[in-house]
Amino acid sequence: MPNVQIAPEQASTIAPQIDLVLYVLTGLSVFFFFAVCAVLVFLAIRYRKGTKVNRTIVDPHAGTALELTWTIIPTIMAIAMFFWATVVFFQYSRIPDDAMEVLVTGKQWMWKIQHPNGKREINELHVPVGVPVKLTMTSEDVIHSFFVPAFRVKRDVLPGRYSNLWFEPTKTGTYHLFCAEYCGTDHSRMVGQVVVMEPEDYQRWLAGEFTAVPAASAGEQLFTKLGCVTCHEGNSPRGPALKDVFGKEVQLQTGEIVLADEDYIRESILNPQAKLVAGYPPLMPTFQNQIKEQDIFTLINYIKSMKDDQESGSQS
Ligand code: CUA
Repeated sequence: MPNVQIAPEQASTIAPQIDLVLYVLTGLSVFFFFAVCAVLVFLAIRYRKGTKVNRTIVDPHAGTALELTWTIIPTIMAIAMFFWATVVFFQYSRIPDDAMEVLVTGKQWMWKIQHPNGKREINELHVPVGVPVKLTMTSEDVIHSFFVPAFRVKRDVLPGRYSNLWFEPTKTGTYHLFCAEYCGTDHSRMVGQVVVMEPEDYQRWLAGEFTAVPAASAGEQLFTKLGCVTCHEGNSPRGPALKDVFGKEVQLQTGEIVLADEDYIRESILNPQAKLVAGYPPLMPTFQNQIKEQDIFTLINYIKSMKDDQESGSQS
């Protein structure tokens, strides 16, 4: 028999579950389609004009049991499908806390990747097998969509905000990475590959041929170079200190309380006046068009690491 593949290889923890939902749903639909057609054809032939069959209705209520059966059973099946698919959907959407974070920037027409240690790559994503990976993604221009069929994961990548995706690869190998949102002339060439490696190989790959500075110290350099340091260190009256700010709630000038997450920090870099922290003047200039998305990631990583410092008790 020729090797006919309906779907690509299943290479992540979620893939078999998503396939099973799809196959069961398709199977049920096909079954009921043919069941209804069979009854239709049978009755059309049996009761066609001129056949000698009994056409008198004996008791109009005789079919109640039958009608209840064909109403209740499919209803239960539909509700069961709904709950089952919802459980899978929650697993797909809920990112594990211990996931390793990789940053992805979509751009006409390439994928730029940044690893936790600051290592960067283009159109290739190297990940370890058996480890949950969280992608934080944004776009420098238009809407793209990050799609790895073998993992059964896909998520839009939007300019101006972060979206997340997670997967846990179950097999080593090389898998297709596609852009699944029409994004201009070379959309069809906006492809790449995900290379799943043994954890030791991944560590070796991560460390190899890599002379750039680690993300946090690259962040520190950028923080100094862009002048952030002049207002955001110590107890300057001009800007809030950023130590230990990530993941905390911040009170704004308007009295509103917001969570200092990735989106908030990004917005504060690009549009500082949008959400001013209470007690500080609107002094900060915008960095719109002056800073690349990947550098914003680097700064966010640095701000996160300031939080880690605090927790491990090192002095300021
Ligand atoms: Cu990017 Cu299509």
